Amino acid sequence: MKLFEPFKIKNTVLKNRVVFPPTYTCMGVDSEEAFEYYTVRAKGGAALVIVEGTGVESFKNSGFVKKLSRLAKSIKEAGAAAVLQLTAPSSINGENVWASERPDARAITTEEIKNIIKFFGEAAKLSCEAGFDGIDIHGAHGYFFNKFFSPLHNRRTDEYGGSVENRMRLGLDVVAAIRKAVPEDFLVFYRHSPLEGVEGGYTLEESLAFAKKLEAVGVDVMDVSPGKGPKGEPAEYAVHFKKILNIPVMTVNGFNNAKNAEGALVDNKCDLVGVGRGIIADPQWPDKVRNGQEDRIRKCIDCNKGCYGNIGEGKPVNCVLNRIKRD
Ligand SMILES: Cc1cc2nc3c(=O)[nH]c(=O)nc-3n(C[C@H](O)[C@H](O)[C@H](O)COP(=O)(O)O)c2cc1C
Repeated sequence: MKLFEPFKIKNTVLKNRVVFPPTYTCMGVDSEEAFEYYTVRAKGGAALVIVEGTGVESFKNSGFVKKLSRLAKSIKEAGAAAVLQLTAPSSINGENVWASERPDARAITTEEIKNIIKFFGEAAKLSCEAGFDGIDIHGAHGYFFNKFFSPLHNRRTDEYGGSVENRMRLGLDVVAAIRKAVPEDFLVFYRHSPLEGVEGGYTLEESLAFAKKLEAVGVDVMDVSPGKGPKGEPAEYAVHFKKILNIPVMTVNGFNNAKNAEGALVDNKCDLVGVGRGIIADPQWPDKVRNGQEDRIRKCIDCNKGCYGNIGEGKPVNCVLNRIKRD
C-alpha cells in the first residue's frame, strides 16, 4: 500500500504517510496526561505526530521547554517524527485581541503584530532545541491567522489588511521569521483552510496564491485543513494545492478507513493523510491497517462527543469508544 511507503522531507524520513494531526487535549501540553496521550499514539504506528496548538507565549514559562523536550523524545523513541503546532495568543496583557475590533476584543496594533512575529521565530527555535523535527503554524479553522486572511473579518488599514497581498502578509512574515531562526532542515508546516465557504469570504483561488507564496518563503509542507467548513470527499481541496505546489501536501478530514486514505494517495491528491479522530478512538489505527487487521480497529463513529464535545466544555479530550486514560 502507498499508505505505508516511506516519505522523506528534507532530512526527516517518515516511515509511512499517516499523520496524527494536532488535537488540542485540554490537558496542558506539558502535563503527564498529555505525555501519555501522545506517546501511546506515536506507538500506534503513525509516522508523524503533530502535537496540539500551543501558544507561543507558553515558551516564557519556566520549565516549559524541558517538558516539551521530554515529550518530543518520547514520540521519537516510539518511532514517529514529532512536530509541534504553534498558535498566536488571543490576549495581550489580559486584553482580548483580534485582527479587527469585535464586541469582545480590540484590534491588535501593528507593533503587537510585529512582536508576535518575533515570538513565533523564538518559539520555533526553542521547539527545535527541544528536539522537535518541525513546527506547524496554525493558520486554519477561523482562528487568529485565518481571520487575517479573511476579507470579512480583516478590516485593517495597515500593511496587514486590505488587499489580498496584505491579508497574506502575517502568515508570510511569520514563516520568514521562523526560517531565519531555525536550521535549514527544520520543518515548517503551514495549516490553512482552503476556503471560507461563506458569501464574501476568501476564495480557493486566493488560498492557492497564498500557498505559492508560502512555498516561496520557505514552508516545507502545506497542511490543507477544511475544518468545520464545507465538507466533501477527503482530499477534495488538497488536490488543487497538489497540482500547483512543489512541496508536499498533507490533508485531513474524514479519513476514517484505509480505503479512502489510500485512494487519496494513489490518486495523487496529497502526500500525507491526517487521521485525527480515528487515532483518538484507536491509537493503533496505523499498525492495525498495516498488519491487515482493519476489522479490529475501534472505528470512530463521528459522534464528536468525547473529542470536540469535551474540549468545547473545557474538559480533557476523550472518546466514547475509548476511555483515553485506559489506552
Ligand atoms: C479534540 C480535537 C482537537 C483538535 N485540536 C486541533 C488543534 O489544536 N489544532 C488544529 O489545527 N486542529 C485541531 N483539530 C482538528 C484535527 O487536527 C483534524 O483536522 C480534524 O479532527 C479532522 O480530521 P479527522 O476527520 O481525521 O478527525 C482538533 C480535532 C479534535 C477532534
